[in-house]
Amino acid sequence: MDVVTIAAGLDFSGLLADKVALITGAASGQGRAAALLFGAQGAKVVVADFNDEGGAETIKMLEEQGSEGLAVHADVSVRVDVDAMVDATMERYGRLDVLYNNAAVQMSGRVVDCTDDEWDLTIATNLSAIFWACRSALPHLLAGDGGSIINTASTLGLIGSEGYAAYGAAKAGLVLLTKQIAVEYGPAVRANVIAPGSIDTPRFRKVLDSTPGAQDFVEGLKRTIPVRRLGTADDVARIALFLASDLSSYVSGAVLPADGGLAVYR
Ligand SMILES: NC(=O)c1ccc[n+]([C@@H]2O[C@H](COP(=O)([O-])OP(=O)(O)OC[C@H]3O[C@@H](n4cnc5c(N)ncnc54)[C@H](O)[C@@H]3O)[C@@H](O)[C@H]2O)c1
Repeated sequence: MDVVTIAAGLDFSGLLADKVALITGAASGQGRAAALLFGAQGAKVVVADFNDEGGAETIKMLEEQGSEGLAVHADVSVRVDVDAMVDATMERYGRLDVLYNNAAVQMSGRVVDCTDDEWDLTIATNLSAIFWACRSALPHLLAGDGGSIINTASTLGLIGSEGYAAYGAAKAGLVLLTKQIAVEYGPAVRANVIAPGSIDTPRFRKVLDSTPGAQDFVEGLKRTIPVRRLGTADDVARIALFLASDLSSYVSGAVLPADGGLAVYR
């Protein structure tokens, strides 16, 4: 088959038709963008978040574009909530094909400044939650016809960065957890990581608001990014769609940077 024949056979609509996707942190930012894109590609989307208002808004946006979704209240730092969000998905839709662990908390602090409470909450939200969600979802993903797990790390989980002790440790931990899942549960389930760089989401804006000289900081930051701009939630959502769908059928255990080349530069 030559390239033209392969291209002619590709259909980029309905990539997630008949699939059910559970996305954590889908009340905002990257999670919401993925929810809308997955919905537009035919998935039924479970929007899990502890921000109920934002979750309801995502569902409204899904419905407005003709997609179907279910909002589930879940604080992913609490194990019973994580198990319950998977149960709620199965109860409503009877299947689960894509688990996208995107929710996270971002607290900064160097090692000696990081309190036990900050450490525990960061590890619970950004690492244990992913373990709990995968453990709970895997039997359902395995029962289907090809499951995909997508876990969100960060550039800060791949390299050291001043002041992100707990966050970096948790994000680095989930990278290996994901590879572990890829090894243990392939071929039925593929598991991959997205490592965003600087993505212009509400979270990013919040950090900027508390940064003196934020505009200069952003301009300086852009100069260190080979594509010379911040990322958008949609940039990341398209990578997530690739990993969720059969477009990435031969990709597992991978870490895909969503950083405009930032990690290469550093
Ligand atoms: N924005 C960036 O520059 C950037 C860079 C690297 C990595 N990331 C990662 O990308 C992911 C998405 O971030 P974003 O920028 O879209 O942020 P965001 O703040 O816009 O969205 C995060 C969502 O997660 C939810 N959330 C947080 N803690 C939760 C909890 N305990 N239980 C349930 N929901 C919870 C929030 O309510 C929110 O809806 C995160 O994993 C983050 O660490 C972001």
